[in-house]
Parts: sequence; C-alpha cells; structure tokens
Amino acid sequence: MARSAILNVMVQAAMKAGRALARDFGEVENLQVSRKGPGDFVSAADRKAEDIIRAELQKARPGYGFLMEESGVTEGSDPQHRWIVDPLDGTTNFLHGIPIFAVSIALERQGQIMAGVILNPVSDELYVAERGRGAFLNDRRLRVSARRDLADAVIATGIPHLGRGDHARFLGELRVIMNEVSGIRRAGAAALDLAWVAAGRYDAFWEHGLKPWDMAAGMLMVREAGGFVSDLAGRDRIFETGEIAVGTELIHRDLLALLKRAQPAGAA
Ligand code: IPD
Ligand code: CA
Ligand code: CA
Repeated sequence: MARSAILNVMVQAAMKAGRALARDFGEVENLQVSRKGPGDFVSAADRKAEDIIRAELQKARPGYGFLMEESGVTEGSDPQHRWIVDPLDGTTNFLHGIPIFAVSIALERQGQIMAGVILNPVSDELYVAERGRGAFLNDRRLRVSARRDLADAVIATGIPHLGRGDHARFLGELRVIMNEVSGIRRAGAAALDLAWVAAGRYDAFWEHGLKPWDMAAGMLMVREAGGFVSDLAGRDRIFETGEIAVGTELIHRDLLALLKRAQPAGAA
C-alpha cells in the first residue's frame, strides 16, 4: 500500500513516540514492586510522548492546530486543519504493566477526520486509515467481521470506574446486552477497541464519556473497514456527546436497539 505523504508524517510521529513509550513501559514493569509505584513516572512518559508527537507534526505542517489530551487546544495559523492526539491511550494498563495501550493520531480537516494512525508499540501493530482509501493493519487491508448474529458477536465496551461515569446506567446496559451476545470484553484502550472492530476481532464496541482524542483515529478506521459509527442514539453527534457505538452494519443496528431497551423508562 502506498501511503500519502501526510500519513507517512503521522506514522513517523507515532513510531517515534511509540519507541519512547515502549522503553518507559519496560521501566514501569520494574517500578511495580517499588513502594512509590510508577504513577509519576507514567505521567512523565505520557507528557514526553505528547511532546515528541507535537514536535514531529509541527515540523512537517507548521500551520496546523492541535487538540491534545495533555496540552489541550493550540490554535494554528491554518484554521482548516488540526491534529487530534492521544499520546498514550490505555494509561491504566500502562501503569499496571499490561501491554495493551496505544498512540493515537488523527488529522481533521474542516471538521472531518481525514487520516488516522493507531500504534501499539509493544505488539508492533500499526493501524492506519485515510478517508476513502481504506484501513490497514501493518499493510494488510482491514474489513469488519462478517458475523451477522448477535448471538455470535463479541462486543467491547468501557466500564466506568471510581468517580467517573454513570455506574447504574452501565449496569443496566450490561444486564440487557450480556443476555444476547457471545461475549463482552473490556481491554482498557478505546483507540484499540475501535481498531479491533476495524480488524474484525470485535463485532462491535460502545462506550460513554469518551473524548475526541480517544475516538478520532479509530472512528475513521471502522468506517474505512466497512463498519458503522454513530453515537448511542444512532446520530452523528459523537464528539458532542462523547458516546460512541460502532460495529458491522447488522450488529451495530442490533446494539443500538439493545442500548435503547436498556434505557430507564422516561430517559431521552
Ligand atoms: C481511557 C481509555 C479507556 C476508556 C477511558 C479513557 P486514557 O483513555 O481509552 O479505555 O475507558 O474512558 O479515558 O485515559 O487511558 O488515555
Ligand atoms: Ca484516551
Ligand atoms: Ca491518554
């Protein structure tokens, strides 16, 4: 697959940050047993990865703006383009020495995601997509799964944790969905959850309370792999609501119906 110049820039930035993260991840494994724990070290690794990505992208396209998890919004001189970046998605996994985390970089033009890169630097899995040009894992073209029945489907999600999200709502959704599917997974990195739907590993994924940098690159990947992407009400308001449901055409449809059934009576 011939990559465009801009996708090459994004891949180079992700790989450079990924190398730093992979080195730091090795150190985190040692810090698990120290009394202080790896917390501060991981925050520093996260910021370092973000700095690397910013420097690489800025060098290649000096005018583009940024929306980055750690440093927020940076306006660019070019108002049409901005990078949406999560330097380390799956921080809790990273902190615990669990090798499921990723760098996620997306390019937005006039509000549309044009390109996305997601890299797991431990497994060396590099997912890339460009609008209208397909999604790829290490140069292999991706397609969402061919499964048609919910009863065969493995569906991923994110579980709200201490101090975050609506626990009762999540338990209501789980109660309805677990009765209908072959399995539910919570791997802990939304960008990879989306990439794994694009790769046909999961048949669908839903989560509440996500940010644009968790979703931007992965959404494009799912679409380019032939999957469906919406908010939980089936609309397009994904960044506004922070809610996302993705999947194969049929399983996405069925998942939305289950989520609707799970809503408490009287909820919008
Ligand atoms: C988190 C991960 C996780 C999701 C959380 C996100 P972070 O991102 O994507 O899977 O459930 O809601 O905040 O904090 O590890 O970058
Ligand atoms: Ca994230
Ligand atoms: Ca993050």
